[in-house]
Amino acid sequence: MTEFGNRSGKGESVGKGVRELAGKRALVTGGTRGIGAAVVRQLLDAGADVLTTARSATSAAPEGADFVAADVRTRAGAEAVAAAVRERFGGVDILVHNAGGAAPHAGTSAISDEEWQDALDLNFLASVRLDSLLVPGMRERRSGAIVHVSTAAVLTPVAPFLHYVAAKAALESYSKGLALEQAPFGIRVNTVSPGKVATPGGEATREQWARLAPAAVGDDAPTAPLGRDGRPDDIANAVLFLVSDRAGWLTESNLVVDGGEFPRR
Ligand SMILES: NC(=O)c1ccc[n+]([C@@H]2O[C@H](COP(=O)([O-])OP(=O)(O)OC[C@H]3O[C@@H](n4cnc5c(N)ncnc54)[C@H](OP(=O)(O)O)[C@@H]3O)[C@@H](O)[C@H]2O)c1
Repeated sequence: MTEFGNRSGKGESVGKGVRELAGKRALVTGGTRGIGAAVVRQLLDAGADVLTTARSATSAAPEGADFVAADVRTRAGAEAVAAAVRERFGGVDILVHNAGGAAPHAGTSAISDEEWQDALDLNFLASVRLDSLLVPGMRERRSGAIVHVSTAAVLTPVAPFLHYVAAKAALESYSKGLALEQAPFGIRVNTVSPGKVATPGGEATREQWARLAPAAVGDDAPTAPLGRDGRPDDIANAVLFLVSDRAGWLTESNLVVDGGEFPRR
């Protein structure tokens, strides 16, 4: 089994013999590692057909999931992903906007215009563009489930990450508005906001931040009241719930999955 799961090995994630998402077609952005890879695996286990996208495939071709290489920061990338979705699946029932991230800086004034734009393109506009291409099909079918992956850091924005956090805050606001707009058409739109999760991207970002501001980052000890850092599957569990029929009366919500670390508003 590769990190993408194996279709022949699909599990029984909800009760014996039940594949809760059988027949569903899912797109996950950034599914080649970290949280996105866990979401892909869990969707496959639940019986969904999955297409994922990243700029580069990992060494092993995705097994079990279809893959298209694309940069979702650009309109051209979004169009390539939407075209692959239509060609391979005809449309999507489940859309998980997971690709995201940004490098930290010494402070707000050290963030260049290009870096602000890049953070907005990846963490906000990528979702807006892909939704604009794929939501019309969901509306025609009168059903769909969309999850935007934000960050719990929106609850306590800190200077080194303001470009990233501000872009995610825009994503959360947009996600709520889209939820209200699309609710009459049977489309549910929710956000998941992870806390500190052990992923390649998360670890690389924290190492960069520790070099810039060792005192602010401290040692590696878990800071969440629940006593450990998050695992990719902690976040994937929340995503799977939100895209499943068990969340059929849930829209416009933001599920903060952070071990209790960030203060709620
Ligand atoms: N890890 C954490 O502690 C944490 C905390 C809060 C929120 N989050 C959020 O959770 C999501 C996943 O984070 P992660 O830590 O799992 O990230 P990760 O380990 O860096 O993985 C990111 C994935 O997105 C893909 N990706 C990155 N840029 C892309 C682009 N321009 N176009 C297409 N694909 C792209 C990457 O593949 P390529 O590089 O090959 O493109 C990879 O598959 C992000 O939205 C992040 O902001 C993470």
